[in-house]
Amino acid sequence: MSARDDSPKDARANAGAEEVSFGYRRVSAPEKRRLVSGQFDPIARRYDLADALLSFGLHFHWKKWGIGRLALKEGEHVLDVCGGTGDLALLAAARVAPRGRAFVYDFNRPMMRAGRAKVKRSRFAGSVLFVEGDAESLSFPDAVFDAVTVGFGIRNLVHLDRGLSEMHRVLKPGGRIMILEFSFPVRAWFRRLYDVYSFRVMPLGARIICGTAGPFRYLAESIRVFDPPERLADRLKNAGFSDVRFRRLTEGIAVVYLARRR
Ligand SMILES: C[S@@+](CC[C@H](N)C(=O)[O-])C[C@H]1O[C@@H](n2cnc3c(N)ncnc32)[C@H](O)[C@@H]1O
Repeated sequence: MSARDDSPKDARANAGAEEVSFGYRRVSAPEKRRLVSGQFDPIARRYDLADALLSFGLHFHWKKWGIGRLALKEGEHVLDVCGGTGDLALLAAARVAPRGRAFVYDFNRPMMRAGRAKVKRSRFAGSVLFVEGDAESLSFPDAVFDAVTVGFGIRNLVHLDRGLSEMHRVLKPGGRIMILEFSFPVRAWFRRLYDVYSFRVMPLGARIICGTAGPFRYLAESIRVFDPPERLADRLKNAGFSDVRFRRLTEGIAVVYLARRR
């Protein structure tokens, strides 16, 4: 064994010591996973309402636009990673039903519980399925999905590249991916406005709607430490995706990324 090889014990110790960003804080990788999931427990029941009010309804417009770019067809199977309360899965189900299926994949039970109740009330109850698990190790065989979506969840992954290669693995050759993620406005005057909104108005609104401001403060911080769009596009290419492109929406507050598996 060369001097650079780690023993399994060293590798485990290093994995525990690895530090990643959780908003403006540096925490260990397992701690980030626990903290991210914990963020959604207290807000799950009112997540949809907070999302709608605090984004002025824009989130739904972005989601519809993103799903439209996938050109889904009846009978296709879609995996919605970090699917939460299932908005993207429902939009996908409307296009792939009745033979196709949309799977909501998430590691937070309260979010999925809220999503299940919403799906049950919809016309697509039989076409949306919920699976609990971590985006960094998807519990599906290789090459089974026609499309993968991720809505505002990729920023939360502890090991982003690992998650992207998992998404690549479960896509069929030719399969498409659509990622929606927040970013930072390009124009300076809008950025200043966005700062005030993110750090002052939004946490206040969140406290009123959800009873807690913490998760929304984390949201504002995590957007600012996350990759710029060019970097995330590079990561997609490194994970094996082709035809990678992105488009900024609403002054760059949100970005939609599109790519396919060769
Ligand atoms: C901001 S919510 C977005 C929910 C939904 N996609 C939407 O657009 O409304 C992020 C979701 O990602 C989930 N999530 C974060 N990291 C995850 C991971 N590593 N594995 C699975 N789910 C994860 C959270 O539990 C949460 O439900």
